[in-house]
Amino acid sequence: MAKAKATAFFCKECGYESSKWVGQCPACKEWNTMVEEPTAKRESSARGISGAGTTGLRSVQKPVKLEEVSIDEQDRISTGYQELDRVLGSGIVAGSLVLVGGDPGIGKSTLLLQVCRNLALAGRKVLYISGEESLKQIKLRANRIGTISGELLFLCETNLDDIEEAIRETKPEIVVIDSIQTMFREDVASAPGSVSQVRESTSVLMQIAKGMGIAVFIVGHVTKEGVVAGPRVLEHMVDTVLYFEGERNASYRILRGVKNRFGSTNEIGVFEMQEQGLVEVENPSEYLLSGRPEEASGAVVACSIEGTRPILLEVQALVTQTNFGMPRRTAAGTDYNRVNLLMAVLEKRCHYEMSRYDAYVNIAGGVKMNEPALDLAIVLALVSSMKDKAVNSRTIIFGEVGLSGEVRAVSMAEQRVNEAVKLGFETCILPKVSMDKMKKVTGIKLYGVNNVREAIGLI
Ligand code: TYD
Ligand code: MG
Repeated sequence: MAKAKATAFFCKECGYESSKWVGQCPACKEWNTMVEEPTAKRESSARGISGAGTTGLRSVQKPVKLEEVSIDEQDRISTGYQELDRVLGSGIVAGSLVLVGGDPGIGKSTLLLQVCRNLALAGRKVLYISGEESLKQIKLRANRIGTISGELLFLCETNLDDIEEAIRETKPEIVVIDSIQTMFREDVASAPGSVSQVRESTSVLMQIAKGMGIAVFIVGHVTKEGVVAGPRVLEHMVDTVLYFEGERNASYRILRGVKNRFGSTNEIGVFEMQEQGLVEVENPSEYLLSGRPEEASGAVVACSIEGTRPILLEVQALVTQTNFGMPRRTAAGTDYNRVNLLMAVLEKRCHYEMSRYDAYVNIAGGVKMNEPALDLAIVLALVSSMKDKAVNSRTIIFGEVGLSGEVRAVSMAEQRVNEAVKLGFETCILPKVSMDKMKKVTGIKLYGVNNVREAIGLI
């Protein structure tokens, strides 16, 4: 042990590297996330995506013209779930690296196992590698989600060199790595789950994916404490980043695209966790609005666009007299600062004494939505609760609110209105500008408003 230990400090949130310890990561501004680790071997991290130290696939690439590159649409493989295909940008791309992140226990393994089953049924060769569960555990889970047939192979392994060999031998089209945090390479000195291991392992997987044209799904747990690196460390290395989110006690799950080199981000897929695994929710609006109280004050229906899809949801507000000097405000499912801003607008432009009231704003169903088009709905929910007057439950509201209390245009107004018509809504309060630009719609009464005061007058 004469050799000096080469270590550095890494942020386990974003992977930032620093030669000395700091309390706050300069890159992602998180506190207490720096951990000391042996630095990775330089030579291995410098390998490009087409070369491959251990994979033995190294070939010198010549520069080419784009015309010479052919694109096969068949390269897209359907996962058997429309909701997932949409988030991926119409299917899996061969040779792509997809990161599926999420809290432990949210259903990542379940989702990927079901996808593997679909792919195997469609005649694809799939290899599912688990570093977390034994074959017995996987079988138990598989029994819950239904029969598995076709070329679906399982492997319980954490050593990436062995995994590489297995992939080389079985030549699958799709590989799932269940949790990157359990994988390790022998030539990296740190423990599995550390920043350098996670990075090195991902770079090996990237070489496998690009070199052999295999689509690789990587599961990454979102970690809150400990020294285990989070999935953000590898976000920049993969082609597509999906996050699986949802309340643990609610049954539905939302799959959100955060980064996608092959399609749009912002798309979401909605699933429901049932006894037999995850089931697609084709009409999320209906789902999110079910069980809504009729004629309750402080509850209004808004429309948010997620990617290309309009989704109706319920915005709830509870406004009560403040008992202490400082009013309390909370926002669940939406941006806290935005709620404060909207309350300031109400105070200044409509002369409501919001500073005398506590306010709690919630998007029902535990979903997170941050579209500015929800502004008007939040404002009206707040006013409705403060006055204790219910808004007609067959009304849908959307529009962005500006600082002078004006209601500004939003994108895709027509799609939003059409979705509302589909679900049987009778009236719609929307920005005047958006209404004037829209083609005629039947089956719903539209009220265009210029500012917040006009909108409040309508309810
Ligand atoms: P899992 O896929 O193991 O989560 P992750 O891989 O993200 O850690 O999901 C486990 C949870 O899902 C567990 O709490 C039980 C639940 N579940 C069901 O409700 N129904 C099912 O059919 C399955 C397989 C799991
Ligand atoms: Mg799992």
